[in-house]
Amino acid sequence: MRSTTIGIFDSGVGGLSVLRHIRAALPNANLIYVADSAHAPYGDKSPAFIEQRARALTRFLIEQGAQAIVIACNTATAAAAATLRREFALPIVGMEPAVKPAVAATKSGVVGVLATVGTLESARFAALLERYAGNVEIVTQGCPGLVEQVERGDLNGAETRALLERYLAPLLARGADTIILGCTHYPFLAPLIGEIAGRDVTLVETGAAVARELKRRVETELPVCHSTGEQKQERFYTSSDPQQAARILSLLWGKAVQCLPVETGA
Ligand code: DGL
Repeated sequence: MRSTTIGIFDSGVGGLSVLRHIRAALPNANLIYVADSAHAPYGDKSPAFIEQRARALTRFLIEQGAQAIVIACNTATAAAAATLRREFALPIVGMEPAVKPAVAATKSGVVGVLATVGTLESARFAALLERYAGNVEIVTQGCPGLVEQVERGDLNGAETRALLERYLAPLLARGADTIILGCTHYPFLAPLIGEIAGRDVTLVETGAAVARELKRRVETELPVCHSTGEQKQERFYTSSDPQQAARILSLLWGKAVQCLPVETGA
């Protein structure tokens, strides 16, 4: 039986939408999650700042025993995945908006992308479109303010709804029948997005694909550890207030969790 330790980080609580798929794919792994909520949102920060945070969080996770890292954040992957892979010698799994499956799924020939401004402006996203968009029209929409709503645990209040109505309107007006949730915070808004967009629109996210890729890399690249019989665990850290973070993490994770402060020295 394998018993590996995986480190996962995001600008905040959004990466829990990936963590749930990782838990399902690797039921015996120890999972250490860091929410960098003191620095969220990443979406409006410079790539250099995000790179510095990603480096500090990766170092912290390795110190905690992580044998592989998941960047559970599209924005941080775009800004820092290449640097982390150069600097750290362990499997690093990143993520990007699911353009390829969305292009395969659309019938109207129009795909919408909801993501952070940082992701949409990145060279990595431009390369993704270049590679997979083909003849499909891709309509992108940056969503300032949405991450903050999820960080507050406001998944269906009036303000969140108003933001989503504003951001979805141009995609729907254009005829998008497939919408990519290109930020890990957004799957928590999927019920509300689905309600506003209507039943004929398909929402596409990346969490399950990331978990599959992680499982493949763990199985091929990490030594088999024999289980000591220890209970697998999930550990949560935050760079903001641990008590407040524990409240939101518990809400989104679906059970009460404790949260510790992360020390990154940055
Ligand atoms: N959840 C992140 C993503 O997937 C970052 C959101 C943010 O902090 O702006 O892009």
